[in-house]
Amino acid sequence: MNIVIIHGTYHKGSTAYCADQIIKQLDPKIIPNVQTFMAPVVYPSLCVGCFKCIVESEEHCPHNKQSIALKQAIVDADLVVLTSPVYVFDVSGSMKNLLDHFGYQWMSHRPKQTMFTKLGLSVVTAAGAGLSSTEKTLKTNLRWWGMKKVFGFKQAVMSKSVNEISPEVLSKIDVQAKKVAKKISNAYLKPQSKPEFLTRFYFGIMRMGKKGHPEWNELDHAYWIKHGYFNQKPWEIRVSHGTMNP
Ligand SMILES: Cc1cc2nc3c(=O)[nH]c(=O)nc-3n(C[C@H](O)[C@H](O)[C@H](O)COP(=O)(O)O)c2cc1C
Repeated sequence: MNIVIIHGTYHKGSTAYCADQIIKQLDPKIIPNVQTFMAPVVYPSLCVGCFKCIVESEEHCPHNKQSIALKQAIVDADLVVLTSPVYVFDVSGSMKNLLDHFGYQWMSHRPKQTMFTKLGLSVVTAAGAGLSSTEKTLKTNLRWWGMKKVFGFKQAVMSKSVNEISPEVLSKIDVQAKKVAKKISNAYLKPQSKPEFLTRFYFGIMRMGKKGHPEWNELDHAYWIKHGYFNQKPWEIRVSHGTMNP
């Protein structure tokens, strides 16, 4: 299983620890091949809001060069993991910045066909509060990227550092990590043919809206025509050699 983990911080703390626990607990039949990225390393500068990714091409983003390895890792991944500690009831600024840089591939713009075959996982820790709103940000992005199925792990660790987590909380992490790992393993080993309801629902809404409106965004419209999204659902389209378009 190709796994890409994108951390919302420079450091590997409690949140990264939880993500690692989940990967360790995957079914033994699964051999994980993990690539790890740190959001502030990939994108040290903020999205400048130039709209180039949305109306010209993602290659015209002023920060495109530094993101090529990450983008390839996402295309190659079976499981995409986004992690963030709760910072004032939401994701870290670095994670939000990374998500902004991927706005062009939301289903409202140019979703990649391969996304509809991938599993997504959001991993969030907080000292105590703000887990749900933070998880919502990560899950919303994974869904709007077109992920087939999205899982979540969230835990209040009552701590500011991984070394200070109490044995009670560590054992809660262990139990929860096993549960999430089991769900991911099942989804990977016995895959469903279609994405989950929310992904299909959002795609359907976007298709209805975009169909008669090339003027909303000509680049998006041409992309949807090229990929056949107005005629077929992306998860049902096969290209000639049997794989999907990245
Ligand atoms: C800037 C900042 C804001 C934070 N905001 C919250 C918060 O709103 N709620 C909370 O419970 N913990 C908050 N925390 C604590 C972290 O979410 C918590 O310690 C987390 O487990 C750290 O994860 P890490 O070790 O992966 O960085 C905040 C920490 C920082 C540095």
